Amino acid sequence: MNELDERPKPFLYAVVCAAGVAGDVGKLITMAQDRGWGVGVVATPQGLHFIDGAAVEAQTGYPIRSAWRSPGDPRPLPPADAIAVAPATFNTINKWAAGVSDTLALGILCEAYGLGIPTAVLPYVNSATAAHPAYQESLDRLRGMGVMVSSYEPHPPKAGGGADRFRWEEALELLGPAVDARR
Ligand SMILES: Cc1cc2nc3c(=O)[nH]c(=O)nc-3n(C[C@H](O)[C@H](O)[C@H](O)COP(=O)(O)O)c2cc1C
Repeated sequence: MNELDERPKPFLYAVVCAAGVAGDVGKLITMAQDRGWGVGVVATPQGLHFIDGAAVEAQTGYPIRSAWRSPGDPRPLPPADAIAVAPATFNTINKWAAGVSDTLALGILCEAYGLGIPTAVLPYVNSATAAHPAYQESLDRLRGMGVMVSSYEPHPPKAGGGADRFRWEEALELLGPAVDARR
């Protein structure tokens, strides 16, 4: 066993929003686990409807988080070493950049900046939505906060989306070096 093998494995929060490709989050979980990461899923309340909760929990071994726990309840997930917001909606991107914290997912994301947790965002939006001026401003603000933004180009509206070119692995490509640098 080498020195790297003896370190505790990093833990990834996959923040899942209510976008068309959310049902494929198992791909990200598999890729991360194959690289030796533990994974927990935090879904937005709307995002919960887009995923197979039982399958995700069986795959990760952790409950999906979506609502705040009650005071005194134990924390259901270990602390995050990195966060991937994938897929990220127009809604959550804009609220995150504005500092709105009205879902658990947004609360975790807003706090991650101050905690210095490496964070990557994989937006999945169509080009009509992305044309809203707030969207680019939000991405610029997130970049300024150190958030790594994926290369996905918005798909045309009402044309079936772009799931085939949504690169889940980009989350790990972006986060891997940042996490290694902190360990
Ligand atoms: C079937 C369906 C697919 C959707 N796909 C997307 C999408 O790909 N990207 C997006 O930004 N919003 C999409 N939306 C809209 C979001 O679900 C909606 O804005 C929601 O409020 C987002 O909540 P969240 O950001 O808390 O997850 C979709 C809605 C539906 C019903």
